[in-house]
Amino acid sequence: MNRVRVGIIGAGSAGLLHALSYSQIHEKAQLVAVCDVNEVTAMGLAKTYKAEKVYTDYKKMLEQKDLDAVSICLPHFLHAEVTEAAAKAGKHVFCEKPMATTLKDCDRMINAAKKAGVKLMIAENHRWTPAHIAMKEALDQGKIGEVILARTYEVVDERTNMGNPSLWKGTADRAGGGSLMDQGVHKAAMLRWFCGDVKSVYCWTSQQMIKLPNKAEDTAMMFLKFDKGAIADLFLSFAPIAYFNNSFELYGTHGTILEDHAWTDPVRIFSIRPGKDSYRWITPKVEHQPHPGYYRISFRLEAEHFMDCILHDAKPDLSGEDGKAAVEVALLGYYSAKAGKEIRRGEVQLP
Ligand SMILES: NC(=O)c1ccc[n+]([C@@H]2O[C@H](COP(=O)([O-])OP(=O)(O)OC[C@H]3O[C@@H](n4cnc5c(N)ncnc54)[C@H](O)[C@@H]3O)[C@@H](O)[C@H]2O)c1
Repeated sequence: MNRVRVGIIGAGSAGLLHALSYSQIHEKAQLVAVCDVNEVTAMGLAKTYKAEKVYTDYKKMLEQKDLDAVSICLPHFLHAEVTEAAAKAGKHVFCEKPMATTLKDCDRMINAAKKAGVKLMIAENHRWTPAHIAMKEALDQGKIGEVILARTYEVVDERTNMGNPSLWKGTADRAGGGSLMDQGVHKAAMLRWFCGDVKSVYCWTSQQMIKLPNKAEDTAMMFLKFDKGAIADLFLSFAPIAYFNNSFELYGTHGTILEDHAWTDPVRIFSIRPGKDSYRWITPKVEHQPHPGYYRISFRLEAEHFMDCILHDAKPDLSGEDGKAAVEVALLGYYSAKAGKEIRRGEVQLP
């Protein structure tokens, strides 16, 4: 195989970004099929990106023999069912975050991929955001020593989607929660990458703007402790009337890393390690564009990584187990918010 033949299931906002990514790496991937329960939506995406086939039933799409892999870009509660079916049909699975809404479903997905011998990667685009990669490289080079404190923010104005009672976004049953499950898994995945495994969490969830009975929290705040000693705070919200705000602060024993998606050069590193860059702010050059450019960049890079894994039979850098660990942090947060106390990982039974 020198080009992966891919299908997209779910032609909404994420499906569109997956299609765009495949078109940008056309030497490695070819979009051949699109599926959406809404036929007009599926046809629109297929036409724009020249996919040959359109389906409204994903099971029919999975019968297509010359299809190697699928992008699953569906509401969260469908990720496990469709991953299982895709794996059983022998298709490699590239599934959007959050991996699923329960740990049980994450395990179903991991086991299905293992049993079928197909690759499974969770589309955690923050892992491929070049600014985050530059932060991880600086950490691995010891520039700031051991992380002792971390702060991270994600604010996206989702009042329209959250305020639509019939839309799945932010519902407990179809999304598995609100901002914590949706945005929180991004941050949980990155914090784990930077600081190691989580030891305990203390969380608040709140409906600050959207107070519909079938919607979960539009805002979550969480404190985390890590096995290696770092502590962190996490601020997530779909409520504010604000432009996209996405940032990180990492404070270490030998320096600081600041990151903000809104900056032209999104990463600033300060280190007291001896060397020519000691005691001054350094801004590494990374591929970056203002919103929505940084989404397109990270989606392209993660899709390219997964295509490379399929073409060269390599293990994806972000596994099913990594996706599950991020979901676990969100579920621990919900448990803590309900119990009103700090919860240690492993202390309670999560769904
Ligand atoms: N990484 C990111 O930054 C990012 C951004 C947006 C969305 N996402 C994730 O992508 C996923 C999809 O989110 P979205 O914003 O694209 O949602 P969306 O509502 O825009 O699109 C979902 C699409 O799935 C279709 N659909 C629903 N049930 C279906 C079924 N049974 N079979 C086929 N199609 C079906 C809907 O008609 C809709 O077009 C979610 O997991 C979300 O968290 C990730």
